[in-house]
Amino acid sequence: MTIIVTGGAGFIGSNFIFHMLKRYPDYRIVCLDKLTYAGNLSTLESVMDNPNFRFVRADICDSEAVNALFEEEKPDVIVNFAAESHVDRSIEDPTVFLQTNIMGTAVLLNACLKYGIKRYHQVSTDEVYGDLPLDRPELLFTETTPLHTSSPYSSSKASADLLVLAYHRTYGLPVTISRCSNNYGPYHFPEKLIPLMIANALNDKPLPVYGEGKNVRDWLYVEDHCKAIDLIIHKGRVGEVYNVGGHNEKQNIEIVKMICAYLGKPESLITYVTDRKGHDLRYAIDPTKINEELGWLPETRFEDGIKKTIDWYLNNREWWESIISGEYKSYYEKMYGNR
Ligand code: NAD
Ligand code: TYD
Repeated sequence: MTIIVTGGAGFIGSNFIFHMLKRYPDYRIVCLDKLTYAGNLSTLESVMDNPNFRFVRADICDSEAVNALFEEEKPDVIVNFAAESHVDRSIEDPTVFLQTNIMGTAVLLNACLKYGIKRYHQVSTDEVYGDLPLDRPELLFTETTPLHTSSPYSSSKASADLLVLAYHRTYGLPVTISRCSNNYGPYHFPEKLIPLMIANALNDKPLPVYGEGKNVRDWLYVEDHCKAIDLIIHKGRVGEVYNVGGHNEKQNIEIVKMICAYLGKPESLITYVTDRKGHDLRYAIDPTKINEELGWLPETRFEDGIKKTIDWYLNNREWWESIISGEYKSYYEKMYGNR
């Protein structure tokens, strides 16, 4: 079995590669990644010498490069993680989100049609459903919740989902889609809430909480997401969408306070800053379908996962310090300088 994992030098893709190489020692895993600002080859250092692993630097929008790789590797399965993934960046400049997330997906789908594959899996997000109100805790996203996006990021992901489903209906391409809630864990790029707060707290820098910090996200440990995708590509029904989430809703401010407490840092570091434009209030996944059909359940409790994550950032300072000392500095200044 040969699997092409696109975006495997990023946060979730790299964790997925580690999971698959460990769990299936006879599979060949080929990572195709453009190495944008969010991709980091050092993340994959531990598997670079594995004979069952290959890294290829390429853009999913480059159909020549993608087709050449399909021709050479004859993959059975494609798992597409490659995307521009940060909502704040999409608000600043949507263009690259449309290019990579929509056009890039189309290039991959066309290659799948041309060369034939057993499964194309699209890694999507709960953000395609828009948001839920804060005062209706009984409401959850199911797979039939209408798509109702808020940001250029979520709109581009929803567009890609629709294309994937259209290639199934029109051409019979064997596809699946997973829509997961917010992930956290090792190798999470420090522009996102949890790693940003850990890095800033460790450096005694202000912790910029948007608005009042009351927005709710449904957090899932990254390994649990990887296990869900593993199950879907092996046992999921073709043409289906599976929601992935662990009934673990937290307000942003709760998370930031938890991080301060674990690191022994004062809550006085917390600084409330101007809210994100169009800020989604609450995300919450109903995972009944994947639970009942595929037996998936999250295994890591948030209380354990967040400690494991903070410990990872404490023990792997080089990884994130080299990121925040590079071009990330000018991003941070632009986004948070006058906020
Ligand atoms: P990330 O930003 O950490 O990684 C993205 C990876 O894609 C990087 O390695 C980058 O170099 C690569 N990439 C970007 N553009 C590319 C292109 N044109 N060609 C090839 N490679 C390219 O993202 P992540 O958080 O790991 O998210 C992975 C996927 O999971 C995304 O599709 C995202 O929408 C989805 N998702 C993320 C979350 C989350 O909480 N992070 C939750 C649900 C779904
Ligand atoms: P983020 O990690 O960007 O994920 P997403 O927007 O895709 O859910 O943000 C998670 C939540 O944290 C979101 O409500 C925005 C908020 N947030 C802050 O309050 N401060 C920050 O510096 C960042 C990056 C996010």
